[in-house]
Amino acid sequence: MKLLYFLIFYAIALSVALARSGRRSHTASLSGTTGRPSTRLLIIGATGGTGRQLVTQALERGHAVTAFVRNPSGLPIRHPQLQIIQGNVLNYDAVEAAMQGQDAVVSALGHKRFFYPTRILSEGTRNILRAMEIHSVPRLVCETSLGLGDSVGRLGLYFTFFIIPVILPFYFWDKTRQEQLIAASKVEWVIVRPGMLTNGRKRNAYRHGLKVGSFILTVRISRADVADFLLNQIADNTYLRASPGVCW
Ligand SMILES: NC(=O)c1ccc[n+]([C@@H]2O[C@H](COP(=O)([O-])OP(=O)(O)OC[C@H]3O[C@@H](n4cnc5c(N)ncnc54)[C@H](OP(=O)(O)O)[C@@H]3O)[C@@H](O)[C@H]2O)c1
Repeated sequence: MKLLYFLIFYAIALSVALARSGRRSHTASLSGTTGRPSTRLLIIGATGGTGRQLVTQALERGHAVTAFVRNPSGLPIRHPQLQIIQGNVLNYDAVEAAMQGQDAVVSALGHKRFFYPTRILSEGTRNILRAMEIHSVPRLVCETSLGLGDSVGRLGLYFTFFIIPVILPFYFWDKTRQEQLIAASKVEWVIVRPGMLTNGRKRNAYRHGLKVGSFILTVRISRADVADFLLNQIADNTYLRASPGVCW
């Protein structure tokens, strides 16, 4: 029983800390589209679940895609408009080499090293932002997660009281730092916070906004629908410098 009380107290304390240190969205600053045909896209994390969806859907939309990957064999897609660049996001020179000539960056960076402190997301994003500023690449669209900043609690009770405090505390601190770096940067940015990801089909129907999610139930969305929403943010100013959640 004492352990249960301790877990509840710890989960609440962690939630308060994540909410206080995390990014807060206010209202969306502009609406409409940029009018800029952002057709040259650099996709970070392109071999991942969301990343492969991003590459496929970006090519379907007619974009010229550069996929930044650690291991090219993890991306079994070939297309005349697809260039694959091998590199590690923690290597600044590799990131800078991939950044030249891009119009926008979409990041679906993630990893599975949950149980010890890492800075892969924040340090990788620091490199991305630095290279973007040097090469005047205007826009970053970055996938993070519901449960950060002013969306704390919106992944539902199971995540708030078990998954985040027990399995993902280091990961969520790194994501918090990642969001802080993006928000402090000079680039145009949209942070997209999805609910729990599935490999389900693309429904083309999902909720998005600054108040989506549930404080009780686990909200979900497919990686395919997240990719659709991420790609929409490349030329849409509705959520410029804001952190919308997205879920079914
Ligand atoms: N799972 C969920 O329910 C959930 C919910 C909300 C948000 N999210 C977040 O959504 C994002 C995408 O999740 P996902 O499950 O679709 O992604 P994922 O399958 O975990 O893919 C992550 C991608 O990041 C790449 N990566 C990792 N470290 C790298 C490095 N040092 N340099 C270059 N690339 C690196 C991976 O490359 P390799 O293939 O080489 O490993 C992979 O392509 C993540 O940030 C995740 O935390 C997940």
